[in-house]
Amino acid sequence: MSKVYVDAQAYRAIEKGAMIVFKKGVVRTEGEIKPGDIVEVYSRGGKFLGKGFANPNSNIMVRLVTKEKDVEINKELFKERIRKANEYRKKVLGYDKAYRMVYGEADYLPGLIVDRFNDIASLQISSAGMERFKLDVAEAILEVEPEIETVFEKNTGRSRRREGLPEIERVLLGKEKYRTIIEEGRAKFIVDMRGQKTGFFLDQRENRIALEKYIKGGEKVLDVFTYTGGFAIHAAVAGAEKVIAVDKSPSAIEQAKENAKLNGVEDKMEFVVGSAFEVMEKLQKKGEKFDIVVLDPPAFVQHEKDLKRGLRAYFNVNYQGLKLVKDGGILVTASCSQHVDMQMFKDMVIAAAAKAGKFLKLLEPYRTQAPDHPILMASKDTEYLKCLFLYVEDMK
Ligand SMILES: C[S@@+](CC[C@H](N)C(=O)[O-])C[C@H]1O[C@@H](n2cnc3c(N)ncnc32)[C@H](O)[C@@H]1O
Repeated sequence: MSKVYVDAQAYRAIEKGAMIVFKKGVVRTEGEIKPGDIVEVYSRGGKFLGKGFANPNSNIMVRLVTKEKDVEINKELFKERIRKANEYRKKVLGYDKAYRMVYGEADYLPGLIVDRFNDIASLQISSAGMERFKLDVAEAILEVEPEIETVFEKNTGRSRRREGLPEIERVLLGKEKYRTIIEEGRAKFIVDMRGQKTGFFLDQRENRIALEKYIKGGEKVLDVFTYTGGFAIHAAVAGAEKVIAVDKSPSAIEQAKENAKLNGVEDKMEFVVGSAFEVMEKLQKKGEKFDIVVLDPPAFVQHEKDLKRGLRAYFNVNYQGLKLVKDGGILVTASCSQHVDMQMFKDMVIAAAAKAGKFLKLLEPYRTQAPDHPILMASKDTEYLKCLFLYVEDMK
């Protein structure tokens, strides 16, 4: 088996629990390494640190699967880890039919995401190593959770391209099925696996549900970057009087309209296909004000090098959003960029509020991703979502 030797910094990180070896931490390699190969990782001095999937073409050189030399990397190992991950969601966290079943590294399954929506599992593989075990993983999912009858592979997106993997979207195993209806708080959603990501953003589940308690009846709500209606449907179901939902994706808005009908709230909802920036500007020009504005944009910072530009985009969106919140209203603002930490996010919102002439009070403790996307304490990479509920007052 080929070998990868790492520097002292990477060694210390692995000892603390990190499961990723970045290329910059590699001092030398031994033997030929092709994308997806299993390799052994050693300290510079020759201490065995673990085994995992290598990809010499990626920034992440090795994704460790095990720290034990004699553990075999095979279907049995993956099945046991999927079983444990599923049990954690069901027994410890109390989820039932719709939850993230596997969250990559945090479940010791690097490069594998599995979201369960009733009898459908939607999987995404982002490492060349895991790709080799794709069918084993799909079989293991069906064996671990017998209620699942379909494994859909949603293998598209930037992370696949970065690893040099082909983009594929299809039923991989089991019944041909793409759609199902899930329940979340007081709302219901149609999930279509062919939508964005695995089909639905489960990471915001608890934050969407948290919005319901701020709806006392009669509010006017603006949900920007709504996707299939997420926060907007919750607001409408909880009793808001008028809800405007905006997204640039026509297919997401079509699905959002279906979701509104499914929940019987279509009469109080208005859907807009368009750019968030342009729509918010138009609303401002019309002098519109909202009791609640929700901002849940896509990750504006994909790479660390884009941090400055991405933070500016967050600033602009939040500045515009804040201008639309009435005095004594609420801003719910989120960022799913892993490179933007809570402090940067807070600093950005504070600056946007100052420019918009607003004071902000934190309404809820700092919120993050749903617990079925566990944050591995030793791994910064598993923590990405920030969500603030803020009370907004005019500076007078
Ligand atoms: C993180 S998702 C939002 C998830 C949603 N809040 C939910 O709870 O399901 C981001 C959404 O932003 C949309 N989007 C991306 N760029 C946009 C833009 N410039 N203007 C409007 N929508 C945009 C995407 O189509 C996607 O639906």
